[in-house]
Amino acid sequence: MNKALSPDQNFEGVAEDDKQHAWHHMFQHNTPPGVAPQIIVEGEGMRVRDINGREYLDAVSGGVWTVNVGYGRKRIARAVHDQLVKMCYYANTGGTIPGAMFAKKLVSKMPGLSRVYYSNSGSEANEKGYKLVRQLAALKNGGRKHKIIYRDRDYHGTTITALSSGGQSQRKDQYGPFTPGFVEIPDCLAYHAKDGDDPDYGVRAAKELEKAVLREGPDTVGAVILEPITAGGGVIIPPPGYFETIGEICKKYGLLLHIDEVVCGLGRTGKWFGYQHFGVRPDIVTMAKGIASGYAAISATVTTEELFGEFLAGPEDKMHYFRDISTFGGCTAGPAAALENIRIIEEENLVENAATMGDYLLERLQEMRDKHPMIGEARGKGLFAGLELVADRATRAPVDESVAIRVVGECMKRGVMIGRTNRSFPKYNNTLCFSPALICTRDDIDEIIAAVDAGLGEVGGG
Ligand SMILES: Cc1ncc(COP(=O)(O)O)c(C=O)c1O
Repeated sequence: MNKALSPDQNFEGVAEDDKQHAWHHMFQHNTPPGVAPQIIVEGEGMRVRDINGREYLDAVSGGVWTVNVGYGRKRIARAVHDQLVKMCYYANTGGTIPGAMFAKKLVSKMPGLSRVYYSNSGSEANEKGYKLVRQLAALKNGGRKHKIIYRDRDYHGTTITALSSGGQSQRKDQYGPFTPGFVEIPDCLAYHAKDGDDPDYGVRAAKELEKAVLREGPDTVGAVILEPITAGGGVIIPPPGYFETIGEICKKYGLLLHIDEVVCGLGRTGKWFGYQHFGVRPDIVTMAKGIASGYAAISATVTTEELFGEFLAGPEDKMHYFRDISTFGGCTAGPAAALENIRIIEEENLVENAATMGDYLLERLQEMRDKHPMIGEARGKGLFAGLELVADRATRAPVDESVAIRVVGECMKRGVMIGRTNRSFPKYNNTLCFSPALICTRDDIDEIIAAVDAGLGEVGGG
């Protein structure tokens, strides 16, 4: 399991530098003596190595479902290198070669959508969507139709406005006051719903949107933002009928449908985009993470030609165009990496692999459910799955988050990195998360399952 690092590397003092000076994301720094933040130094395919030379099978694509094509892709690095030496940056008020090429390629996977707006992070991409809604309201009806509806347990980013549209209450705690004009509806997790087994549950859950629109006043609501499959909120697959009904409600009340594909986009769920499982036609689609598999920072807000057309007044109207900018939206490394990334996904049939291996992953996770009473539900689509841990299967009461943390730790001890819902809700931090790279094989899945099996056995005694 432990392999030597490349010989020319000298990491003396780096761990101490990190401890003294780096401030890590989502990390409680007051660690017990001897515990230090992990420092990952190398990656190849599905595997990474840390500064101590320990190797891990990464079942979470870089911790947060990002490195979709796996580590060490020299052709992406080369594409970025070649682009940077030719033209590293020019503000996206104009065009760049990779920007134009990637935009065309991307929308070829998204029938009905045609315009690509670049920025740097999922949060920022979503904020662009919100700004489109707000400006459209200002242009069309004096700002009235400005409200945006979001769903409990969904996450749309870290900035104050993105958090204002987030349904993960622990993530929001202590960061208010929030941006006004965002309205929450309930989640659609059948497992915890009183009527979750009813075949009409999906339609009923979606009708919460209509209730909210009527409560707020249809002339005040401009859009709804939804994750196609809720990711960090516990890997929630929408029940049958859910999105179809959402689509109908959007049409009925003139709402824009904004789908957040920051996690699901670019093949993760076994289709190019998560929404493509559910037969809806979004007006705005945002993406980040897997768009360039983390080889460069890039995000995109993709819209229909119709929405783009709303911002096309002539030069006589000096305020009637999308007056937004993102400095680093002009970096060429992002689209250069994204173009190579999407070519790899096509050439290696990784969307298909995600579907096939995803079925196998879910089958093996169901087996774990049959074996370990601590697993309440296994759910997933493509290479995107979750195991919800419960203290009692009959009541579906969740385990404390410390239990999920221990299972993750046991898997780490066995050389496999898995994820978990990370301090997002006061009660439901109880889902283990799996999102291996789209290159994942059956052997990789067997190795992941073996670690989970042993880890659950250790923690739950099953
Ligand atoms: C569904 C979803 N949307 C948006 C974001 C925010 O993306 P970023 O961290 O790149 O701002 C995330 C991040 O985890 C996410 O999971």
